[in-house]
Amino acid sequence: MRLIIPSPAKINLSLWIKGKRKDGYHELITVMHTINLYDVLHFLPSDKLELHIEGNQALPLGSSNLIIKACKLFKEKTGINPKVKIKLEKNIPVGAGLGGGSSNAANTLKALNTLYGNPLSEKELFELAEHLGSDVPFFIKGGLAIAWGRGEKLKFYSPANFEILLVYPLFSCSTAEVYQKLPPIERKISLEDAEKLVVSPLINGNWEQLKENIENDLEKSESNCVKQVLEIKKELESIGIEKSLMSGSGSSVFSIITKKIDTSPLKNKGWWFKFLSAI
Ligand code: C5P
Repeated sequence: MRLIIPSPAKINLSLWIKGKRKDGYHELITVMHTINLYDVLHFLPSDKLELHIEGNQALPLGSSNLIIKACKLFKEKTGINPKVKIKLEKNIPVGAGLGGGSSNAANTLKALNTLYGNPLSEKELFELAEHLGSDVPFFIKGGLAIAWGRGEKLKFYSPANFEILLVYPLFSCSTAEVYQKLPPIERKISLEDAEKLVVSPLINGNWEQLKENIENDLEKSESNCVKQVLEIKKELESIGIEKSLMSGSGSSVFSIITKKIDTSPLKNKGWWFKFLSAI
């Protein structure tokens, strides 16, 4: 038993807050798409569960790691004790709003299911994923989806074709803090509105319309981190990247690319940036 699988990142092509719930979470509607920025998960034979992380980002190896949490949940649900050595090649920046940890968790559930003869149906995988985090169910399938509720309810669409410039400003944001410092927002927006505003222009390649419509309510958070992200957006504007959006709870920022861009000002800033495609 040996399995090597990619674990992609996502961006939020919009995120609207509908209100705050009694359980402390926020009711939202968001449009997500996976992109071709990947971590790699290696599952190798072992006599016990072990996790090794390659890449220079500080991540917990113990029970707070979402990969370990996914393994424990798989064991609870199936009764199968996963004895695997998991090696994570970490390329997706952490705390960047790119869903790296959620993707790792979802792909671990899928990989264990494959390795142990598919004891879980896809529906059960989605249900387990929900316990690991709001974004985790999306990564069971990936591609293009609208998510609502706390992020766990999903409608998938055929993946779209587009290019982005992704900028990671070399600092991270805490998702919990970004949500905590959000002023009260109560938007009246429906799934159909999200389809009209984002999914249709995306599928039809109506880029100007898309750029006009996309927004992220988490940019309204009063956290210091988001304030710094807004500065990055301003700087991008000053070098001709008119419309950029924070992905999820930040800190990364993306812009849909429809023309050639001079990247020398980005290099001068010392930021991490990449041209990437939707997948
Ligand atoms: O579900 P997840 O663990 O990814 O959420 C991290 C934090 O983000 C939560 O503790 C919560 O504070 C906040 N959150 C929220 N509303 C959501 C999703 C996340 O308030 N819909």
